[in-house]
Amino acid sequence: MYSNQLYLVEFSQFLYFCELKLMKNPFKNKTVWIVGASSGIGQALAENLSEQGARLILSSRNEEKLNEIKNSSSKSENIKIFPLDILKFNELEEKTAQAFAFFGKIDCVFLNSGTSSRGTVLETQIDVHQKIMNLDYFSYVILTQKILPFFIKQKSGHFVVTSSIMGKIGTPLRSAYAAAKHALHGFYDCLRAETAKDGIRVTLLTPGHISTEISFHTLTADGSPKGMNDETHQNGLPADKAAQQILRALARNKNEVYIGKKLTQEHLSLFLFRLCPDLLHKIVRKKIP
Ligand SMILES: NC(=O)c1ccc[n+]([C@@H]2O[C@H](COP(=O)([O-])OP(=O)(O)OC[C@H]3O[C@@H](n4cnc5c(N)ncnc54)[C@H](OP(=O)(O)O)[C@@H]3O)[C@@H](O)[C@H]2O)c1
Repeated sequence: MYSNQLYLVEFSQFLYFCELKLMKNPFKNKTVWIVGASSGIGQALAENLSEQGARLILSSRNEEKLNEIKNSSSKSENIKIFPLDILKFNELEEKTAQAFAFFGKIDCVFLNSGTSSRGTVLETQIDVHQKIMNLDYFSYVILTQKILPFFIKQKSGHFVVTSSIMGKIGTPLRSAYAAAKHALHGFYDCLRAETAKDGIRVTLLTPGHISTEISFHTLTADGSPKGMNDETHQNGLPADKAAQQILRALARNKNEVYIGKKLTQEHLSLFLFRLCPDLLHKIVRKKIP
């Protein structure tokens, strides 16, 4: 069983390699800004994009961690470290101008920062909802509004927005997180429709469980961080594989794409949601941990 899985992983890596070669490295010499680059999915994207020859601007609050990522890259000369707290809304206009000034142009922005929530609707304090909406939704809206004039002027640009499978389907204990991620779909679907004429692309990523530290920082009903990792996340798709799936999907020009282990319960739930939503809602209500 183990060796079969190993063959599958190696085979998928081989396919990834061939696909990128055939596409002639779609990100080579492109400038990419990753917000939320210091760990998990963002870090894996940074490492994969650096390997592909992209010029990178890496942002998040933890400058030390960003520098570690830069220093471990064989192409560190193509990486700018650009610390940013996306919750400092009044700084985002100036930060955006600085980011565009680094290389004179940005081809693609990954809006990936965020955290999750755990708690019943009854117990989750309104303050937790507000914090999650600020980090997972409003910060994206504000930064997008600051970036948009640059993309319009360039007549090109790609917003890649990390939503979640929770942005499609609400499950028990995730009301704050699911609400913020659902809101992203409304906002970015409108943005895509409005700005396609300006050469702007929008891709929404809807990951299932990815093996990162996200559950450690997750806010509980009273607003305190969970402080431990979920088994479901630890058993999720490795972040590096998630990054490879994301980059493949972007090269294929997807508007919205599921990222995660294939043919699992969470993957199949998306099909069920489309085909037979009432049945899915019945299944989901039995999922209280
Ligand atoms: N892991 C999963 O199973 C999963 C599933 C679906 C969706 N997602 C989404 O994927 C995205 C990345 O999460 P992850 O799983 O990779 O978790 P993670 O390892 O905890 O990464 C979160 C990132 O967000 C950054 N961040 C948090 N607050 C920030 C702030 N105020 N300003 C700037 N950056 C901030 C963190 O950097 P600093 O701490 O350095 O600021 C870090 O780089 C999130 O949007 C999450 O909702 C994850």
